[in-house]
Amino acid sequence: MADQPTAPATQSASPPETAEINQPELIAAPQGEEELEDDFDDDADSALGNDAASSTNSVTASILEYRTIKGRTYHSERHESQYFAPNDEQQMHSQDITHHYLTIMLDDKLFLAPVKDDMERVLDVGTGTGIWAIDVGDQYPSAEVVGTDLSPTQPLWVPPNVKFEIDDCTKDWTWPADHFDFIHMRYLFGAIGDWNRLLQQAFRCCKPGGWVQSCECDVEMCSDDGSIKEDGVIATFWNPLYKELGKKLGLSFQVLENRFQNKGFEAAGFVDIKEVNFKLPIGAWPMDPKLAEIGGLTLLTLINDLEGYVLVPWNIVHGEDTPGYQQTLAHLRREFRSRSMHAYMKVRYVYGRKP
Ligand SMILES: C[S@@+](CC[C@H](N)C(=O)[O-])C[C@H]1O[C@@H](n2cnc3c(N)ncnc32)[C@H](O)[C@@H]1O
Repeated sequence: MADQPTAPATQSASPPETAEINQPELIAAPQGEEELEDDFDDDADSALGNDAASSTNSVTASILEYRTIKGRTYHSERHESQYFAPNDEQQMHSQDITHHYLTIMLDDKLFLAPVKDDMERVLDVGTGTGIWAIDVGDQYPSAEVVGTDLSPTQPLWVPPNVKFEIDDCTKDWTWPADHFDFIHMRYLFGAIGDWNRLLQQAFRCCKPGGWVQSCECDVEMCSDDGSIKEDGVIATFWNPLYKELGKKLGLSFQVLENRFQNKGFEAAGFVDIKEVNFKLPIGAWPMDPKLAEIGGLTLLTLINDLEGYVLVPWNIVHGEDTPGYQQTLAHLRREFRSRSMHAYMKVRYVYGRKP
């Protein structure tokens, strides 16, 4: 692979209106490397805490009655939504690392949409740890930033212009029409059954002239050089798992492949729609230092909480008592860490303006 082009260190300042991945066809990877050393700490301890009891003023006791599955906690049964990932500290840690690599991917920008500097109201749908909302609140002190989620997992000590609320974004939105200057949604794959409806609601609540941005990832892993083994656990277990899970939950995890974002923005009536695509390496295998850093962090999110990503999908697709769960996790970890495997996932940003 020595003659492959290396990926650029930065993305274009004005993203092209194209469905192409905005990186070279192949991310250059060194050949014949040893297996990656296990230099990640699987320790459950996370410095990045959550604080369920300290969240919004709309929290009632039932919303804190989390479901527990094999020691992991999940959002309250008060919500009809069946979101697959836990809401505990281990998962929150992975979410914060995800925010970090996505910010590096955007060259330290928090978003791509050309919003006004003097925006007044910002909404972050499915805010998770609230880390994006907090960073935006810091960067735009005159804006009021609201983050919503199924679970009150956001911290107490946040900038004064940031607040969090419990809300299921798949239900009817109660925000007034023409309310927000910017609505942001990120990594809601596996949470949304009807993307058109979600984006219609965002359109209604966005001010004329305001922007809505969606960033999603297809969890299916691919490689450009055939380095994902056909009989390996990524090809035989990981990739089919989320396809099957989507079928069972009545939604699709293949948001990019189905172009749900693009179709939703168009159907809702947004204009000036732009699409920007990235490859998200699994592991620090790319030769480009920026991509290697992103890849290392992506691997870290997976290794830090592989169980969080797999436990409920395994139970739903294969059955809770089906043997082989722990062995499968071990095989996945080994494959993800393998330097000879040049796997990546795809990430797509779509944003549009309400006329
Ligand atoms: C992968 S995390 C992404 C968090 C955050 N957007 C980020 O990028 O850092 C997905 C989040 O969506 C939330 N979520 C899932 N279904 C939801 C729903 N129906 N309404 C609101 N939030 C939801 C989950 O609770 C979780 O915090």
